[in-house]
Amino acid sequence: MASLTPISKTQFLFNKPHLKSSSPCLETFFQSSLVSKRLSFQFKVPISDRMPLKAATVVSATTAEKPKKRYPGEAKGFVEEMRFVAMKLHTREQAKEGEKEVKEKEEEAVRKWEPTIDGYLKFLVDSKLVYDTLEGIVEKAVFPFYAEFRNTGLERSEKLAKDLEWFKEQGYTIPEPSSPGVTYSQILQELSEKDPQAFICHFYNIYFAHSAGGRMIGRKVAEQLLEKKELEFYKWDGDLSQLLQNVRDKLNKVAESWTREEKNHCLEETEKSFKHSGEILRLIL
Ligand code: HEM
Repeated sequence: MASLTPISKTQFLFNKPHLKSSSPCLETFFQSSLVSKRLSFQFKVPISDRMPLKAATVVSATTAEKPKKRYPGEAKGFVEEMRFVAMKLHTREQAKEGEKEVKEKEEEAVRKWEPTIDGYLKFLVDSKLVYDTLEGIVEKAVFPFYAEFRNTGLERSEKLAKDLEWFKEQGYTIPEPSSPGVTYSQILQELSEKDPQAFICHFYNIYFAHSAGGRMIGRKVAEQLLEKKELEFYKWDGDLSQLLQNVRDKLNKVAESWTREEKNHCLEETEKSFKHSGEILRLIL
């Protein structure tokens, strides 16, 4: 399961990496915060910015053949940077690379995992609203590059419509969307019009989280509540790993034209993505 609560701001790391090495107070802040030491270390200022000119020249000469990558995952492309930040926000229980501590009672409830059909229906309805919104945004393409992300094969809206129809046929009443889905959908709409880098962070996290942890959840719910029926939500037309790779390639290409500040701004948005997706996931319980 994901970190289902917001965690402390990692913003310093992205905006002001130099503060890490210059202020003892901030050192304490980083160590006491939920941000992992490994993550804060990785975002330290590049050596060349801290060294006297002479030393810096030596560094750049030795690194000329093999340029040093300053951000975790950077060498593989921007998606790997987004993935790195996202994986740290999982708990260890959720994923091997997770580093978020499980502290609060609510998270313990999530760990115990007692899903109900009513809760699951709420989750599916709110998820559909979020996917409707994402898929509408790329269709409209207020920023022309959004059009790259049409018809990727990862779309979930129609699949969810089929699943909800199936539940209806089984005699269940389909609820109206609830606050977590409505709020997230509004946020996505606004970001997509004003802040494309932040929007892309949500786009990545929503589709990729569903293909990983989302599927695990689907399997568990199917076992416990649906006599192992596999919902359409968890089926893709074509080879999922290839579909994901195609989207990774497009995201990497888009981010190539972003400045470092724009990339950092995108990475900073990851926490918000976990917060809102976490609120929707929690509807299952
Ligand atoms: C119950 C909740 C969750 C569970 C159990 C879970 C678990 C996992 C697991 C097992 C992986 C695969 C790790 C690997 O590649 O080895 C993963 C990947 C990932 N998760 Fe989660 N996760 C959850 C929620 C979330 C949430 C809320 C988000 C963000 C909205 C998120 C974002 C991601 C991303 C971006 C990846 C990388 C996918 C990829 O590289 O293809 N996850 N998760």
